[in-house]
Amino acid sequence: MTKRVAILISGGGSNMVALAQSMQGDHPARPVLVLSNDPQAGGLAKARSLGVPTVAIDHKPYGKDRAAFEEALQTALEQARPDIICLAGFMRILTPGFTAQWEGRMLNIHPSLLPKYKGLHTHARALEAGDAEHGCTVHEVTAALDDGPILGQARMKVLPVDTPDTLAARLLPLEHALYPAVLRRFADGDRTPVMLQG
Ligand code: GRF
Repeated sequence: MTKRVAILISGGGSNMVALAQSMQGDHPARPVLVLSNDPQAGGLAKARSLGVPTVAIDHKPYGKDRAAFEEALQTALEQARPDIICLAGFMRILTPGFTAQWEGRMLNIHPSLLPKYKGLHTHARALEAGDAEHGCTVHEVTAALDDGPILGQARMKVLPVDTPDTLAARLLPLEHALYPAVLRRFADGDRTPVMLQG
């Protein structure tokens, strides 16, 4: 049975594009929805041009009422009936109540070698620490932020000339290789971690 995948974005959606384009041919999954919490997110137009249905639920009108925003999110997701949710540059922190509903079926990509540098500004923090290596991680989403079981990592060397921006730019192609590789295995029911070296 082909798995249905919903992809949640907040911005340009380059990881979303990599995921959507990978789900072709004998791939065990297909994208059924791209959802954004920002109606202006550049990734929405890219999803439409790939023929994937889109929904935008602006989180701003909900203010601090995360539960109400997540209720609207849940309603949209239930209409799309995904088997798997991929967070791809989705910048809203989800409450434990929400993540519990999708536990074991929701993935996220984070731009660091977890468990190092949970949260924001991962590239600057890796440079400040003088790390020789940096990378990205795909993990299952649990109640704790950037903390769930790791399903894949991609590593690369940090160069003496690197800045946070150059690290981010050099890491993105690795993210675009790692996330589709993990999704393919995960959609096949295989949680064996994917390890890539840039
Ligand atoms: C990526 O670096 C991802 O790791 C992080 O947010 C960025 C999103 O990029 N969570 P895009 O929207 O997929 O281009």
